[in-house]
Amino acid sequence: MADLPQDFWAGWVTLITLISLGGMSWLVYSVYFSQGHDKPSPVWDENLSEGTNPAPMWWFWFIFSLLIVMVIYLMLYPGLGSYKGVLNWSQGGRLEQSYETYDAKFADTRTLIRDASIQTLKENSSAMRSAERVFEQNCENCHGEDAKGQANLFPDLRDADWQWGGSESDIMQTLRGGRIAVMPGWQAALGDEGVNQVAGFVLALGRGESVSDDNAGKVKYQQFCSACHGADATGNPILGGPDLVDDVWLYGSDMPALVHSIAVGRTGIMPPFGDRLDETQIRMLTAWFMQ
Ligand code: HEC
Ligand code: HEC
Repeated sequence: MADLPQDFWAGWVTLITLISLGGMSWLVYSVYFSQGHDKPSPVWDENLSEGTNPAPMWWFWFIFSLLIVMVIYLMLYPGLGSYKGVLNWSQGGRLEQSYETYDAKFADTRTLIRDASIQTLKENSSAMRSAERVFEQNCENCHGEDAKGQANLFPDLRDADWQWGGSESDIMQTLRGGRIAVMPGWQAALGDEGVNQVAGFVLALGRGESVSDDNAGKVKYQQFCSACHGADATGNPILGGPDLVDDVWLYGSDMPALVHSIAVGRTGIMPPFGDRLDETQIRMLTAWFMQ
């Protein structure tokens, strides 16, 4: 069946529609105008016979006008197979039309948002309210209410601390493409003692304490960790290596949390939104996050 041409079915539907229309017209006509009403009806029970009077004439005109309306309808709108009707109306066409109206209505606003600087957007309170709504719908589940972060898993997006860079283009890149952070586990390479030494060093860094150059943790840090977190431990946005001296911690700042981060590793994943948000939404969100 599937390989029968579309035209076959269209022709079939047209034929059935026309036959039913003709059949109905004939039926109505025959009830009112064909001869034969005066054929004698069988008589039962001495004087009981069938009446043969048709329904009143107004009923005929009523049905007749419905038939006319039907013919006009089939001429104007799709109904006869694949014939589109004089008005060329279609459901899809209506949808397209409503998209067009929508686009026309918002095209100016969208162009404004696309061309405005991030600073201008930031100062525009209605754009910032829209950003908040987009955030609530797409991001709040993970990043928490008001983007304050949550659960030692999802970063605060309202502070000035950016793991992947806080410039306009960095943030947009994060939103469009997502980010996958890879912090390997060091248990095998450093052993318990090594992990504890380096965790102690990182803890001291976060507290702003000074550490002598021959501190075992510091020596190991320079050897194993500086490539991703930087020689001065202020982070490396290209790899998503976080700043370890600013005392902002995604996974917790106490010794057990640090030991876990270092021994087992961490792999935070920010999903990409490039295909779910459009350019205006990404720009508004970026402006909302920029300090
Ligand atoms: C499924 C949970 C999830 C959702 C949904 C999510 N994020 Fe994230 N996002 C994360 C995680 C996890 C990270 C941290 C990645 C890492 O460890 O480097 C992150 C990181 C980020 C960063 C980088 C922060 C930094 O310091 O560089 C930004 C910006 C961000 N998200 C914005 C958003 C926005 C905007 C949305 C909504 C459009 C969103 N996220 C939706 C989980 C999510
Ligand atoms: C290959 C690059 C890489 C190396 C090498 C590396 N890290 Fe990381 N580290 C990361 C990344 C990326 C993250 C962020 C993980 C995330 O967001 O899920 C991270 C996260 C961390 C965290 C958690 C920070 C927080 O905010 O909770 C600590 C602590 C840490 N690293 C310490 C170390 C130490 C100590 C070493 C050396 C033994 C080290 N890292 C080596 C890439 C690296």
